[in-house]
Amino acid sequence: MPSLTLHQGKSILDPQELARGFEQLGYITDPALATSIYLAVSLAKPLLLEGHAGLGKTEVAKTLAAMLDTRLIRLQCYEGLDVNSAVYEWNYQKQLLAIKIKERTGLSVEEKEKHIFSHDFLMERPLLQAIQEKEFSPVLLVDEVDRADEAFEAFLLELLSDYQISIPELGTVKAKHAPLVILTSNRSRELGDALKRRCLYHWIEYPSLEKETKIVAARLPGIAAEFERQIVAFVQSVRRLNLAKAPGVAETLDWAQALASLGKNTVDRESIEDTLGCLSKSMEDTAKIKAAGIEKMLTEVG
Ligand SMILES: Nc1ncnc2c1ncn2[C@@H]1O[C@H](COP(=O)(O)OP(=O)(O)O)[C@@H](O)[C@H]1O
Ligand SMILES: [Mg+2]
Repeated sequence: MPSLTLHQGKSILDPQELARGFEQLGYITDPALATSIYLAVSLAKPLLLEGHAGLGKTEVAKTLAAMLDTRLIRLQCYEGLDVNSAVYEWNYQKQLLAIKIKERTGLSVEEKEKHIFSHDFLMERPLLQAIQEKEFSPVLLVDEVDRADEAFEAFLLELLSDYQISIPELGTVKAKHAPLVILTSNRSRELGDALKRRCLYHWIEYPSLEKETKIVAARLPGIAAEFERQIVAFVQSVRRLNLAKAPGVAETLDWAQALASLGKNTVDRESIEDTLGCLSKSMEDTAKIKAAGIEKMLTEVG
């Protein structure tokens, strides 16, 4: 098994140091999340982050790559994702052209074949790129893995067990440095037990009032503290309404930005009504918020 190779001086001592590094890059962790990420690095194990949309899963991988000063390689999963898009593909057009050019050279069929099935004709997709990094371990983000199908999950599991890929025409490509793997899932389907067993696991919850206030402060430094507190408190009470799709941190940030760009510096009923589209993404949820009474929620927020 290949091991992790980090930039010199980029080792992380403990979860607290990881949390500080993340905070410097604008990402607010909590002790459980910081510990999971720390362990993923120190044990060189893949980390599976599950949770609702917009809670900072993808951003963990980006921040980790930035903190370790290494490359981020991202594989966005979707239904029907296959080896051609995830691992490698032969460049047919270039191969055809090469055959045409070599037609008159008198090379044997075997020689031609060897030529066109070489690295020059290989289009490397994220998973192959991730195990071919030369200097340091990259962060490999396998984003929204729940969207890919089970066959792909099985393939991924195999890759994660030995970090090697076999290409029939070329042989086996082995990683020199194990990538640091972060998988995310919005849980649109349950992932297989085998994949979960291979990974460290962390469920990202909606943030506490305190954590979310820190996030807004980190991401939108221009907003006054009291205004920030009102915004976050209101979003937190919207989350308690049992909506079909509760607003995530992404929505809080969008909403705060919308209010700020409308020149607001306090949260009132009218501006909430005008900007509800930032928090609710369906007619039904908007109706639920209105039925709960914006005025009443505001008095609770204080
Ligand atoms: N803990 C956090 N600290 C700082 N920013 C955060 C945090 N959680 C979420 N965000 C911000 O919220 C937005 C959505 O995050 P993202 O990682 O795309 O969510 P997910 O992948 O869970 O859907 C991004 O702009 C991200 O920077
Ligand atoms: Mg995401």
